[in-house]
Amino acid sequence: TGVGQAVSTGTLPGWDRVEQLVREAYERYRGHDDGVVADYIPVLAEADPAWFGLCVAESGGQVHGAGDEDVEFSVQSISKAFVYALVCEAFGHQDVLDRVGVNGTGLPFNSVMAIELHQGHPMNPMVNAGALATTAMVPGATPAEQWEHVRTGLSRFAGRQLELDGVVYRSESETNTRNKAIARLLQSYGRIEADPLQVVDVYTRQCALRVTARDLAVMGATLADGGVNPITGERVVSAHVCRDTLAVLAATGMYERSGEWLFEIGLPAKSGVAGGIVAVAPGKGAIGTFSPPLDPAGNSVRGQRATAYLSRTLGLNVF
Ligand code: DON
Repeated sequence: TGVGQAVSTGTLPGWDRVEQLVREAYERYRGHDDGVVADYIPVLAEADPAWFGLCVAESGGQVHGAGDEDVEFSVQSISKAFVYALVCEAFGHQDVLDRVGVNGTGLPFNSVMAIELHQGHPMNPMVNAGALATTAMVPGATPAEQWEHVRTGLSRFAGRQLELDGVVYRSESETNTRNKAIARLLQSYGRIEADPLQVVDVYTRQCALRVTARDLAVMGATLADGGVNPITGERVVSAHVCRDTLAVLAATGMYERSGEWLFEIGLPAKSGVAGGIVAVAPGKGAIGTFSPPLDPAGNSVRGQRATAYLSRTLGLNVF
């Protein structure tokens, strides 16, 4: 749509060109004001709708940012992708496939009907039911140990120590009756063995971890890089876990908009209701964006546009 299209080659253009395109994406979409800031978690409604940050992290370790790339926000549903990778690392392909699934529901992320339609099967790890089933599998003898496993694991993806946003955690804990109901429903179908409310608590904490657009880019670039963090050089998960995670993101990461997203942008991606999106270009790197106003499916509007622009101009579309 009027934007120069580059065909995917094995590599990104040179440093100067990526730098220029990141800046152009920022300038192009900063003035857009479509979308609505989430308010079903009360504290999220306080976000500034003008916040807009983006960052590209290359698998070689180069990082290019623009705008509010260092503003912290809660990772929310984007945590689902990385907790899923940690659980795949611990349990392996088949167990996770059987217990959590990989197919889209075609319904909103917090749908109860989707669970009922599939005899209690959570369907995939990117909707709340599947994310709760995944978090229930996190290694650890107690919820505190599981939470520590999640926090350290996501910090290794980011290459820095991520902290809990206590205000977001409390705000969501006081209002997440629907997630508690979903966890109870999964329990009623024998899909989670642990205490459902404790599972919801670890999940609510994981969603309240504070990240920046830059962190998202580095976390995504770790998946692009076969599990090695391009900044720290640390191996976080195995290469086959990255492949599994990216396949699930391609199919389900943007909820009921996943098909359209893949058609237009051509990258596995995950969004969160605080306004973050991470999109991963396997072998090349990742794009992290942050802007709070969302479309009706819960995906950041500026983030989608900036990612689409960068996917086209950098030739990232995997197809
Ligand atoms: O469970 C929830 O509703 C939130 N903690 C996360 C939802 C979310 O980010 C959906 N995303 N677009």
